[in-house]
Amino acid sequence: MVAPSTESLRDAHGRAISDLRVSVTDRCNFRCQYCMPAEGLPWLERAEILSFEEIERLVSVFVGLGIEDVRLTGGEPLVRRDFPALVARLAAIEGIADLSVTTNGYLLERDAEALVAAGIDRVNVSIDSLARDRFFEITRRDALPQVLRGLEAIAAHESVRPIKVNAVAMRDFTEREVSAFAELARTSDYQVRFIEFMPLDADRAWSQGAVLTGAEVRALIEREHPLREREREPSATARVFDFADGRGQIGFINPVSEPFCADCNRLRLTAEGKLRTCLFSVHETDLREPLRDGAGDDEIAAVIRDAVWRKELKHHVGEPGFRPPPRSMSAIGG
Ligand code: 5AD
Ligand code: SF4
Repeated sequence: MVAPSTESLRDAHGRAISDLRVSVTDRCNFRCQYCMPAEGLPWLERAEILSFEEIERLVSVFVGLGIEDVRLTGGEPLVRRDFPALVARLAAIEGIADLSVTTNGYLLERDAEALVAAGIDRVNVSIDSLARDRFFEITRRDALPQVLRGLEAIAAHESVRPIKVNAVAMRDFTEREVSAFAELARTSDYQVRFIEFMPLDADRAWSQGAVLTGAEVRALIEREHPLREREREPSATARVFDFADGRGQIGFINPVSEPFCADCNRLRLTAEGKLRTCLFSVHETDLREPLRDGAGDDEIAAVIRDAVWRKELKHHVGEPGFRPPPRSMSAIGG
């Protein structure tokens, strides 16, 4: 069966697709254990990476197909030169309801103003430890104070809300972090969320046993603070809980222990213009070649529709025979 070409984006499993993650660079100034090797990865060449014009063009085509939420990622998006100028171009596209960025926060103090001026709606900051030495252990950079300054710099802009703080949860590491993150959630208006460790690390060190599940983190929090679950919106990846005493909220993204593939509405575009319909895709669709060959919007839209139609039913993490994708998270785009 081929993809129907009339209404907005749908896959063959009936899911409506409205969210696009765009990786703007595969490079990063951190070397998180669960993502990159200490020595980094072979980076893409300049000419391989989509230009701002090319990203803008592709995003417009996606928006024409019904994409409403656009999240910019990397690698680390803020290491791309003039990144706020790209945000400004995308913010000008009519039809985007939510334009956001996921960053490690290192350059956020420098760029917060410019991002807000460019029209960013929301920012997620990845922070895996609130203790400086343990932050260094995970990211291989002694950068926690700088990241916290970045977080404050963006939070100073009240139009940028909610601000999410994401921590990857790993066994024998995150247990000791939970209390401090709960405190942060209770004393700020940040939405703190724990994300289960997924097999997307370049070092291939992932194992099922290394996943600290959302349920386990929750149990640790509930030893001190009872939680009440909120109603979950369809296609929301996080299960969000209020602290029972009304102070703060905390979220859990559980792709390994509680896959949410059935409600998945997401697509990913890599820095070199490959469309991925799942984090764990083994097949990707090249959009750069048609783009550079001068294809019209309709032709590119047809390629996208066709790829989306074949979006994977679900990931197979944890099942016998599962093979992680050849790319790490930094080369896919969170
Ligand atoms: N498992 C879970 N989350 C990961 N991220 C990077 N690698 C992994 C992994 N292996 C997260 C980052 C960031 C987002 C872009 O993806 O911490 O929050
Ligand atoms: Fe960089 Fe994000 Fe990967 Fe850490 S997880 S190395 S911050 S891309």
